[in-house]
Amino acid sequence: MAKKTTKKSNETGWDYAPSLESIGHIDLKESYDLFIDGKWVKPSSGKYFETINPANEKVLAKVAHANEEDVDRAVKAARKAYDTVWSKMPASERAKYIFRIARLMQERARELSVIETLDAGKSIRESRDIDVPLACNHFFYYAGWADKLEYAFPNRDFEPLGVAGQIIPWNFPLLMAAWKIAPALAAGNTVVLKPAETTPLTALKLAEIIELSGLPPGVVNIVTGFGDTGAAIVEHPEVNKVAFTGSTAVGKHIQRAVAGTDKKVTLELGGKSSNIIFEDAPIDQAVEGIINGIFFNQGHVCCAGSRLFVQESVAELVVRKLKQRMDSLYVGDPLDKNTDIGAINSKEQLEVINKYIKIGIEEGAEMYQPNCELPDKGYFCRPTLFSNVAQSNVIAQEEIFGPVLTIQTFRTVDEVIQKANNSPYGLAAGVWTDKGSRIFNLTSKLRAGVVWANTYNKFDPASPFGGYKESGFGREGGLHGLRAYVKLK
Ligand code: NAI
Ligand code: MG
Repeated sequence: MAKKTTKKSNETGWDYAPSLESIGHIDLKESYDLFIDGKWVKPSSGKYFETINPANEKVLAKVAHANEEDVDRAVKAARKAYDTVWSKMPASERAKYIFRIARLMQERARELSVIETLDAGKSIRESRDIDVPLACNHFFYYAGWADKLEYAFPNRDFEPLGVAGQIIPWNFPLLMAAWKIAPALAAGNTVVLKPAETTPLTALKLAEIIELSGLPPGVVNIVTGFGDTGAAIVEHPEVNKVAFTGSTAVGKHIQRAVAGTDKKVTLELGGKSSNIIFEDAPIDQAVEGIINGIFFNQGHVCCAGSRLFVQESVAELVVRKLKQRMDSLYVGDPLDKNTDIGAINSKEQLEVINKYIKIGIEEGAEMYQPNCELPDKGYFCRPTLFSNVAQSNVIAQEEIFGPVLTIQTFRTVDEVIQKANNSPYGLAAGVWTDKGSRIFNLTSKLRAGVVWANTYNKFDPASPFGGYKESGFGREGGLHGLRAYVKLK
């Protein structure tokens, strides 16, 4: 099934033979039901939908479409598990279950990585080295907190919120499930989670792992479906907390839906993050950071460094090196270990990205794409750089969520702060400079939840992540992430 990675040109003229990850060791069923109250149950409508591999458009499995009735069953199971088991259990026992889930995920890391790559289109290198290890680490990290909550919230009385309804997107399917489930369980809540419709498989594998871990029935319920399933979770009166990661449009819709209820909400929405290169930065490392910032995971990253700001004196050098590096990127089969840029997650998302590329050209920006061939099946996009971009251009303002980078220059620190902050979003930023004082100056003035210094897209379960402005509110990860799942009294 694997195609040769279709890379064509690079400076040295070198090429690598394909190095395909085997898929023989994975276990995928033809069809998946809903995981409710510790059992696999059929959707009450009898409806299933297909999830495909975006790299070759082949169907991977059929997945149940949960409706309101199914969501109600899941929420009731979560409520019962909360009232009768999970909230009564000693915290040290809860910790053991979370720890066990982490261990089981680690044992199946290889299978989870391959399934993630098949279902989402992301390169195997990323799912294997980033998504899956980070997801395991999240469970390990929060397992550690579960019986130490009195140190997390010293001198405060606290209690769990109850049932958490969690809705996640398709860009980091297993990792987002871990970000949501692990802190909720550690703080003593029970969960109803809905994965995205294009990437439900690793969440369903996680349900199998949870079943294997012996976690009491109903503590975690996984329901698959579309926006209507998500809406049913948000609107269910017995859900005490809604945690959502996805588009700003749906985030706003959720906020309206919970207005006037006492549901707690955390929203992690889009971004248009800036990556700022000063003239004294280590240029080669910065170029790697730019590449990692925007082309990592096909640019399907809410905190992608999609707006590049380069100090005028080094702009020509940076652009030359950047183009050279873009020429050497491998675009193609996500299962190939050489692949840097895998498949775009869905046809719809590819259309969105192509629409923005067209807008960029029409706006008069100058486009650069390496001259690599793309596979004839599947959804692929070349890494794209736009220069000659004005601050007011649509491509510099709106989230594209694809491998598309805009570059602008600046002269002074104040100018770049003003430009970087000129966005409705505020999720992340990167600063590249040799000067420590400048880093501190910028980290305090950039309106972004995360600011990376001389690196980009680095994550750790212990450090909180979240946004300013239209990028949402609430933090995930670290102690802050735990705080989002308790009521402090
Ligand atoms: P989306 O926001 O529609 O989907 C995210 C999740 O929300 C999915 O599980 C979906 O089924 C669910 N959902 C959809 N409508 C809902 C509703 N009314 N109530 C409750 N849940 C609902 O995102 P979509 O359409 O897949 O992507 C559109 C754009 O959103 C992307 O182009 C990108 O710009 C942005 N996005 C941002 C993400 C982030 O990490 N911040 C992740 C995914 C998309
Ligand atoms: Mg899929």
